[in-house]
Amino acid sequence: MPTAKFPSHGPLWLLAELTYRCPLQCAYCSNPLDFSQYRNELTTDEWLSVLRQAREMGAAQLGFSGGEPLVRRDLEALVSYARELGFYTNLLTSGVGLTGKRVNTLAEAGLDHIQISLQAADPELSAILAGSQKAHANKLAMARAVKAAGYPMVLNVVLHRHNIDQIDELIALCDELGADAVELANCQYYGWAFLNRHALLPTQEQLIHAEAVTERWRDKLARQGRQMSLLFVVPDYFENKPKPCMGGWGSIFMAVAPDGTALPCHSARELPLNFPNTRDTPLADIWRSSDAFNAFRGEDWMSPLCQSCDERHTDHGGCRCQAYLLTGDPAATDPVCQYSAQHEALVASLKSTQTDEQALIPRQHRQSQIICRQT
Ligand code: FES
Repeated sequence: MPTAKFPSHGPLWLLAELTYRCPLQCAYCSNPLDFSQYRNELTTDEWLSVLRQAREMGAAQLGFSGGEPLVRRDLEALVSYARELGFYTNLLTSGVGLTGKRVNTLAEAGLDHIQISLQAADPELSAILAGSQKAHANKLAMARAVKAAGYPMVLNVVLHRHNIDQIDELIALCDELGADAVELANCQYYGWAFLNRHALLPTQEQLIHAEAVTERWRDKLARQGRQMSLLFVVPDYFENKPKPCMGGWGSIFMAVAPDGTALPCHSARELPLNFPNTRDTPLADIWRSSDAFNAFRGEDWMSPLCQSCDERHTDHGGCRCQAYLLTGDPAATDPVCQYSAQHEALVASLKSTQTDEQALIPRQHRQSQIICRQT
């Protein structure tokens, strides 16, 4: 059993995954494959208690996400309470379900920031990827409403094989919408995205092209004096070094899932660990004492390879979810690492899948619609 070394502070960042319900069907969704099993969402009072406890522990940043957090009718009440507690709040939304009126009521409640995600640069591809004919137009209208309401405007595009060649049009669209910052984030392969990874992975050539186009846009924007930052995130599988995921397991981040399960990262639910629930355990106890949060703190749990590596203090052993999904062992060296015994096999399998043409399996939300009607 690893030595528990909980940090001297509580989580700095709380992600409140308010619901797994979502009107869209993105095949790259990071929600768990069995999301429809978790029907018993925290009530408003239970969420208020989670927010209060997290703030008492020192959390300063609060993200509301899902699923689609806008389907929760108590979102404004939660935002308002979070503001009262002193959180900096961020809403991560598809924009579907947002209205001009709701943009304003959320602002009145004290929401600091709205991030809208786009699927593609045109309505046709967007409809295929999101499983909704109306989503694209609604997103654009809401992006404009968000800008008009005076929020900082951050747009997010999850890049993959099917939309990455639209990079030029995507950045142009974000520019036209007046974005202050754009996250061009290649897909992270967890949940539904992992299931669909062979169909979503871009080729090396696509990535090189997309990065070059992004760089050209950076130059162009700088020449124009236009303040729109472009963040381009390469897929983990094309890296040689693992990312310092979550800043280290149980170090600065806590996610609370719709049913109250507390997680050290939003994808951790897939790991073979018993995760505590905020319904029956105080947040401070979860953070300090739970086996799940202590499982990968410190270095005792690391493989001999990682324990002898100079990078262990900066990458914290990489991503535990990725290690588990790719090797079946959550304590294994992250296969993205060039020193991992599995790294060559990973790279080889990537090359072999780059020419595959596989249909995307959309996130199935039939069960979620049933949940919608029940609440
Ligand atoms: Fe869970 Fe990296 S996504 S530890």
